[in-house]
Amino acid sequence: MPSHETMQFLLSLGYTEAVSSGIINALLQNGIPPSSLFTMVKGLAGRYEVGEDGGLEALAASVKLELEKQEGKATVKIWCLPSTGWSPASDEDAGALPTVHSMERAFAVEALEGVTLTDIVNHGTGENSDVLAEYLECACSGIMACSTCHVVIHPDWYDATQVDGEGVVTTNHSVDPKKIGPPSEAELDMIDLAYEPQLTSRLGCRVQVTKELDGLVVLLPAGSNNLMDFVPFE
Ligand code: FES
Repeated sequence: MPSHETMQFLLSLGYTEAVSSGIINALLQNGIPPSSLFTMVKGLAGRYEVGEDGGLEALAASVKLELEKQEGKATVKIWCLPSTGWSPASDEDAGALPTVHSMERAFAVEALEGVTLTDIVNHGTGENSDVLAEYLECACSGIMACSTCHVVIHPDWYDATQVDGEGVVTTNHSVDPKKIGPPSEAELDMIDLAYEPQLTSRLGCRVQVTKELDGLVVLLPAGSNNLMDFVPFE
């Protein structure tokens, strides 16, 4: 049976049964005849033996999102403000924060709770996820190797520091769940190489959207540095 063969193939690639059936159903509903199903899925898998993909990963991601929606995951709205609506701090070394002038140009991106900003860019199907993809390249697909997913968190939504009794600023405290916490050391190393990093900068592949973050405001930098451009390929 063609779909049995296709199912076995998808399972062998590591997709769960639910996602594999979702992929098969999506293709059948889009008019792919059952007799061509296996050939079509193999074509989408591309040269999977060497880690290449011909579109199957994106289809699987959208099936996963649909399944999560059906499981009752909350939709979260994130406001994204292009660089015309805010200015970077002139002296962040002195603790200066970015300034928001106007939210007029901000656009709302919808996503399901649990995904990262990079997931939205690469696989998002919610409102304006395609617009966000025009601003953030996310060139390394989330392995912290490019910094093109760099965003600046609106200071009101950022919880990085607290001052202890001695007047010492520390980041060793639990982050307010309604805010975005500070980056890890490894993330900070990448942020330092990003375009105009700010005190509230984060990498989009490390910012996970939770339902407590509904209404989060993210400032989009005017440019980006793609560190992968400097990787010497043979
Ligand atoms: S997507 Fe490359 S560092 Fe986040």
